[in-house]
Formats: sequence, C-alpha cells, structure tokens
Amino acid sequence: MNNINFLKGRDFLKLLDFTPEEIGALIDLASELKAKKKAGIPHRLCEGKNIALIFEKTSTRTRCSFEVAAFDLGMHTTYLDPTGSQIGKKESIADTARVLASIYDGIEYRGFGQEIVEELAKYSKVPVWNGLTNEFHPTQILADFLTIKEHFGELKGKKLVFMGDAGYNMGNSLMVGCAKMGMNFVACSPKDYFPNKELIKQCEAVAAETGATLNFETDPKKAVIGADVIYTDVWVSMGEPDHVWGYRIRELSAYRVTKDLMDIAGPQCRFMHCLPAFHDLKTVVGKEMGEKFGIDCMEVSDEVFESEASIVFEEAENRMHTIKAVMAATL
Ligand code: CP
Ligand code: NVA
Repeated sequence: MNNINFLKGRDFLKLLDFTPEEIGALIDLASELKAKKKAGIPHRLCEGKNIALIFEKTSTRTRCSFEVAAFDLGMHTTYLDPTGSQIGKKESIADTARVLASIYDGIEYRGFGQEIVEELAKYSKVPVWNGLTNEFHPTQILADFLTIKEHFGELKGKKLVFMGDAGYNMGNSLMVGCAKMGMNFVACSPKDYFPNKELIKQCEAVAAETGATLNFETDPKKAVIGADVIYTDVWVSMGEPDHVWGYRIRELSAYRVTKDLMDIAGPQCRFMHCLPAFHDLKTVVGKEMGEKFGIDCMEVSDEVFESEASIVFEEAENRMHTIKAVMAATL
C-alpha cells in the first residue's frame, strides 16, 4: 500500500471486514508512525480535521489513544461521555450519525451491541471507528498484533491461547484476527464460554484460506503447550451485571493464568492482556471480590503479570500507534 490513506472513507467496525493484506498494512503503518513519534518527526497527516469520540462505557487506553493520536495527526477532538449527550436516550443512532457526520470528519464509538456501531456507520457519511462493543474490539487486536510482531518478527504460524471468557469481545476479536493472519488460535475455557458457533464458522472459512488453525479446549494444561502467547481478559466485562461475579469466579478460576501454565508453555511464551487487569487487590472491585471470595487475584496471578514474560504495557502503548494508523488510513 503506497498511500497512507489507503482505506479512505472506510469504516473500521470489525476485522472480518478487512483482508489480511489490509490488516498487515495497518500494522506496518502503525510501526512507521511509531518510529516517527519516537524520533520526534512531525506527522500531522490530518491537519485541521475534527473527530467525535463517543464513549457509552468508560475507558482509559482507548480514549487517551484516540485523543493523543488525533493531536499528533493535527486534529481536534470532542469527547462525549456516557452521560453527556442525547445519544440513544433522546436521539436515535441514525439521527446522531447524520448530525455528527455533518460536523466531524470521523466518529469513534464505544458502547454496547455491535449493531449500534454498524447502524451509526450506515447513517454516517464519514468513517466510524469501533472503540469496543460487546462483540468486538478491533483496534485492540491491531495493537496486540503489532506487539507480537515486535517480539516474534512475524504473526503467521504463532500460537495464541486465549484463556477465560472466550466468547466476549476479546476472545471473538482475537479469533478473527488470528484466522485472518494465519495464526494458530486456541480458546481455552469451559464449553459455554467458547465463541458462538456462527462466528466460529465464519472464522473457519477465513482460516481455510490463510492456513490458520482454530482449536477449542477445556483443559488449560493441554491448551498452552508450545504457546507463543497466553492472553486473558477480565471475567466480567463492562456492562455486565454485578451478580455474575460469583458465578464467573467459580467457573473460570481454573483458567487463571499462573506461572505453572507459563512454564508448561515454555520460555518463548509471552503474557498479554488488553487491560485493565485484576492481578492484585489494589482496585476497588478487586479488593471487594478478593475479600468476598477469598482470592488475591482473578484472571492472572500478580507473579505472571509482573514477570519478564509480561508485555502488557508495550501492548497498551501500541494502542495509540495503531489507532493513529486506523485514522490516518481511513481519513
Ligand atoms: N484495553 C482497553 O480498551 O482499555 P480501556 O477500557 O481503558 O480503553
Ligand atoms: N472484555 C473487556 C475488555 C476491556 C478492554 C470489557 O468489555 O470490559
């Protein structure tokens, strides 16, 4: 791809909408923009444009990444918080899309169902970017894959094991991403937490083209053998009711990422997590659940989170570089 805006006018809603070449090009562009940022070389590629950031759920990384990336590209931002707009309550998504698209050059949306961001995009004449829905978190996957590429030199053939709540946004999106990029994906969880059958079928069709493999395993010790990456996410996601905590802790504790599992995987294995993570009791929720259920961490032990094998903060930084690439490519 020679042009920086090689996806001009396209929405970025889910990785299923993109070819492996396009995903690879976004990762390469992010890498170039990262090098420019580190070298202090200005890259105001979208000078004078304006973007709206809609967050119906809270955020640290995604919001900050969109804002800093926008500023670096020479753009201005408006942040609409979960309570500070009419969206959904007094104004439909279709009307919101048409209003914002007449004022802004691009719209980011974080919220609930994937159908909402798809509807927003349908009625918006400017690009819409998915900043996380219940089903998908595509900008996170670009950051994860840039990080994996930086560590292993390539994506193809790498084995990524997702442990825990595999049927939600992170498990789904990693499965799609791995299928697209010819990787070996394993979802490891109780059967009820595997991604839904329809999505698995779609990904199997992609995998048949790219040489990826997809496996679904309930035994963590079997799943992690030879893994290059063990990835996990919170057991209760934003927007889910509080009462599911006890149930999830009981069902998913066997899928906590521990040093034992990292050792079985082997010394090449890196630990990844989209963050935020419950690896200790130093958060309000972590402390409350820890006291209630007699545990000192949830999806990952503090030992693994803080170990040399953990590349979670590199991953977090790469959110900014990859989101910048998505905006530069589509605007
Ligand atoms: N990983 C991620 O999306 O983080 P935030 O919820 O802080 O944006
Ligand atoms: N599954 C998590 C991801 C957070 C980045 C959530 O939706 O809350």
